[in-house]
Amino acid sequence: MNILGVETSCDETAAAVVSDGTEILSNVVSSQVALHRPYGGVVPELASRNHLQLIDSVIGQALSDAGATIDQIDAVAATYGPGLASSLLIGLNAAKGIAFATGKPFIGINHVEAHLYTPLIANGALDALPMVSLIVSGGHTILAHATAVGTHEILGQTVDDAAGEAFDKVAKLLGLGYPGGPEIERRAENGNHAAIDFPRSMLNDGTDNFSFSGLKTSVLYFLRRNPQHRVEDVCASFQEAVVDVLVGKAVGAAEKLQVKTVSASGGVSINRRFREKLEAECTERGLQLLLAPQALCTDNAAMIAGLAYYQFSRSGPGDYSLEVAPSIGLGVGGSS
Ligand code: KG4
Ligand code: ZN
Repeated sequence: MNILGVETSCDETAAAVVSDGTEILSNVVSSQVALHRPYGGVVPELASRNHLQLIDSVIGQALSDAGATIDQIDAVAATYGPGLASSLLIGLNAAKGIAFATGKPFIGINHVEAHLYTPLIANGALDALPMVSLIVSGGHTILAHATAVGTHEILGQTVDDAAGEAFDKVAKLLGLGYPGGPEIERRAENGNHAAIDFPRSMLNDGTDNFSFSGLKTSVLYFLRRNPQHRVEDVCASFQEAVVDVLVGKAVGAAEKLQVKTVSASGGVSINRRFREKLEAECTERGLQLLLAPQALCTDNAAMIAGLAYYQFSRSGPGDYSLEVAPSIGLGVGGSS
């Protein structure tokens, strides 16, 4: 079954064709990062206008890269939330329009759920369930427990900033570019991660929740008190604090639940120090680790088309009347 997936929840215009959930026939992502960079963050009106300009050609490119015509597509899927309302509308309506006009099933996908199941689906590891899954992106930091594709519960999440948001805000404090994650990671490579002892907030509080705004404030105070700081050391020490908390919480939750598989996905999970430390910790404790492939960590439509296959097999097509749901969150157990 070939599914055309469409994703426009934030600042990437993306379309992909995926066969039977796992075989990626094409994966086109047009990033708007350069467009938003001068503003230090995503400007919703610009994002939406750009999606509108690009959506047709991105979908066309995904079909042609896959060597497929629309007749060879069996269903059309799109993200319906969470995300920016005006951006979601473009991809959702494009997908619904194509599905309706060609008489194909339409499938609405929850973006966070797509991140969650990407490591499992992309690694063809469905038998590794149950798993404790960490979703770490610019908008979300969630620990979930999944027992089947589409069946999960939220164990905990951030009580303030998301991990990616912390990278972006600290990069701004340091006068670095947007998005902050890659900028900080690059400088951290030449820094000493033990130079500054930034707080590991909530690491040992016994919950599965996270907090990153105190860490951001600590960096701010450190910079004020130490105008002669080495940027590389600040980056490495900040990154280490975030990574320690993410890794500690994910592994801790797996041990508490006696679950043998840990997975990680979302934009922050592309971070090499994070991947390295999570891998080392999982190996030491005999846990299986599933990571999203790098190309599927940040926003893309292959994860939408991939999850759509399993959602369709389980619950059938969605409704053409599905509206955008900008603040839907992860939801619980196949809510989408
Ligand atoms: O998943 P994503 O593309 O979008 C959301 O759904 O939010 O994640 C984007 C986030 C940004 O906050 C960005 O700074 C962060 O992921 N990110 C990174 C790295 N690459 C991207 N954070 C840490 N290290 C990286 N290498
Ligand atoms: Zn995302």
